Amino acid sequence: MKLNANARFATICLHAGQEPDPSTGAITTPIYQTSTYVQEALGRHKGFEYARTQNPTRLALENNIAALEAGRAALAFASGMAAIGAVATILESGDHVIVSDNVYGGTFRLFDRVLRRYQLTFTYLDMADLDALERAFTPATRLLFAETPSNPLMRLTDLAAVADLAHRHGARLVVDNTFASPCLQQPLKLGADLVVHSTTKYLNGHSDSVGGVVVASKAEDEEWLRFVQNAEGAILSPFDSWLVLRGTKTLALRMRQHEENGRAVAEYLRKQTGKIRKVYWPGFSDHPGHEVQRRQASGFGSMISFDLGSREAAARLLETVRLCSLGESLGGIETLISHPATMTHAGYTQAERDALGIGDGLVRISVGCEDVEDLIADLGRALNAV
Ligand SMILES: Cc1ncc(COP(=O)(O)O)c(C=O)c1O
Repeated sequence: MKLNANARFATICLHAGQEPDPSTGAITTPIYQTSTYVQEALGRHKGFEYARTQNPTRLALENNIAALEAGRAALAFASGMAAIGAVATILESGDHVIVSDNVYGGTFRLFDRVLRRYQLTFTYLDMADLDALERAFTPATRLLFAETPSNPLMRLTDLAAVADLAHRHGARLVVDNTFASPCLQQPLKLGADLVVHSTTKYLNGHSDSVGGVVVASKAEDEEWLRFVQNAEGAILSPFDSWLVLRGTKTLALRMRQHEENGRAVAEYLRKQTGKIRKVYWPGFSDHPGHEVQRRQASGFGSMISFDLGSREAAARLLETVRLCSLGESLGGIETLISHPATMTHAGYTQAERDALGIGDGLVRISVGCEDVEDLIADLGRALNAV
């Protein structure tokens, strides 16, 4: 199926990368559950030699996501962390990386506890402060890693400004676009060089697969990452590729509902001033990154954090909700609620969390696609118990 060059996002979600199966005409890309491919003769094959290197189901997903992010190519990995690990192989020992602070705890853990062993250095800062960012560059800075909106405090990075700064210093900008999804934000169009995703979240959207992807905009990065994907072998399985491909078909539809529900829940939580000290959601006009998000994204998303003031209050709320499920992760069609300090951000020490402002009373909610009145009723009941 040939997509028009001007096909719109929802159409790209459904059709990009997906041809009817050549042998049967099946409209859905099959799960090519095979480890190898029979070759016709020495050096003569159909473009597939060994399944770590190429797989038709994975290829369909990679082409689909490359189109969603307006990238040159996408490479799918076994998890979001494997994708971020693959990007890190661009670095050489002695290189310096600048990272937006309060990134996902697992990303911090990889950088701080693993990669620092290989003579790489990392500086963490609030990328909204462009002066501080400018000062943080050293002659060894090769990469900027931005998560925006960030996890869990919803800080925003002005991607066009930061891409410009990175390029003036000869560095690449990598954006973790997991929270926004390409439906709301396409960093490569704003000047980023690479995008990473945990496909576990909105791209798959059904909480039934763990995966990751890197999208490249330049030939040299595509070539290197393709080489690394095969060399390290942390590939996404055919079944997971199929699940994510099935998920991206409804991405535009789901994100519309996530956005609508996210706004309603954020506004409801903000009215609960007796119980909630602060609500973090970029859709509020007084959120420090609101204008940046308006400019660079088409929505504010359904990730919200709110501060209940103490660990006890947070625990009571999390133990009382019924419809909202207490669990790690986000971006699924069902609402998930979590406690960053002991769950997603347990990779940071208490002192590191305190410095970032991730308090013990902070609760994060990934608002799903249930009827929003039911969600608000569930949260209201749980807040009454706090
Ligand atoms: C923003 C972000 N990036 C990356 C990851 C890592 O992804 P995965 O769990 O698929 O390895 C996560 C996981 O929660 C995340 O929230």
